[in-house]
Amino acid sequence: MVVTTKSEAQTLSWGRRLGRLLKGWDVVCLHGELGSGKTTLTRGLARGAGSRSRVASPTFSLARVYRGPRWIIYHLDLYRVAANQTRDIGLEEFVSDPRGICIVEWPQAGTAYYPKDRLEVHLSHVAGGRKLRFAAKGPRSREILRHMHRAALLRGQGKEMPDGVST
Ligand SMILES: Nc1ncnc2c1ncn2[C@@H]1O[C@H](COP(=O)(O)OP(=O)(O)O)[C@@H](O)[C@H]1O
Ligand SMILES: [Mg+2]
Repeated sequence: MVVTTKSEAQTLSWGRRLGRLLKGWDVVCLHGELGSGKTTLTRGLARGAGSRSRVASPTFSLARVYRGPRWIIYHLDLYRVAANQTRDIGLEEFVSDPRGICIVEWPQAGTAYYPKDRLEVHLSHVAGGRKLRFAAKGPRSREILRHMHRAALLRGQGKEMPDGVST
């Protein structure tokens, strides 16, 4: 599923929509160059998942934690992290917390720890805004995208992925 957002507000909205569908054990990996909107999307995600905390880039702290009434949101940024350092951050505990939702910017270094069934979001700059491509890696993440897709169709903004990524 691919969407194009034309403003920061639209990127936030898509984050909120997705965030409402998330629950404990879900992992969302955010790929994309600097400024593509990963932290902005996370702000919406955290809000949608019930957090009222201020979301800031964890680039220097590596991990930030936002508590909602139901879920604990772990927001990670592994930009400066090497694969052999992920143990020190506590990634293993984050992804195994049954109440935890993990959102990871620059997820590469932590690949060994993520569940196979996770949501991958690829963000990129396009003329007039940002492109968000959502890809599911298993039944749970497909279910999330199906719900999001259905909601988008109901609003008349849905766009089918041309290259067949399941929604
Ligand atoms: N669709 C959009 N059009 C224009 N600007 C956007 C859009 N979505 C987000 N932005 C802006 O782009 C910037 C993205 O920054 P950020 O979310 O920190 O990116 P990243 O975490 O990927 O480095 C923010 O200034 C945000 O306001
Ligand atoms: Mg960021």
